[in-house]
Amino acid sequence: MAKIIRLDPLGTETAIKTNDNLLSALLKHELNILQECGGRGMCSTCHVYIKEGMESLTPLNRREKRTLEVITTCKPNSRLACQARVIGDGVVVELPPGMYLHQIDDIESLIGKRAQEDILHPINGKVLVEKGKLITRSMIVQLKDTKVEVSRYLSQVTDAV
Ligand code: FES
Repeated sequence: MAKIIRLDPLGTETAIKTNDNLLSALLKHELNILQECGGRGMCSTCHVYIKEGMESLTPLNRREKRTLEVITTCKPNSRLACQARVIGDGVVVELPPGMYLHQIDDIESLIGKRAQEDILHPINGKVLVEKGKLITRSMIVQLKDTKVEVSRYLSQVTDAV
């Protein structure tokens, strides 16, 4: 049986099969989710908030808890979309505001432009560039460093498992 999920702030609804994870619902909408860890609950690039219907999702597992602990934007209603499977109706998902770093394809082309949304660190959710701020070359260098940091972090996590 299909379950209907609402995505905020897009305001769209989508149907997914019972027991499928939330990530599949997000991907259906072609949202740019990096899934840096390949949906294994080890990065936080699929972090979402559950506005309603937390009880309609499978409970948090240990790995998911551990990963969520490192994100500064984590709230009591945070989940990793790749780990939360839908078992009931009435789930409303809120996508965290801002844009994760991985969405910037051609990073150099952003120099001299204003950030249209907050640009967030993909691991800890820290705001790297605030909305409306001018993006400078030194910021770009910092963003690139962050990318390296992210791959290093992920290889460590993978090794540790
Ligand atoms: S895709 Fe990495 S935690 Fe979900």
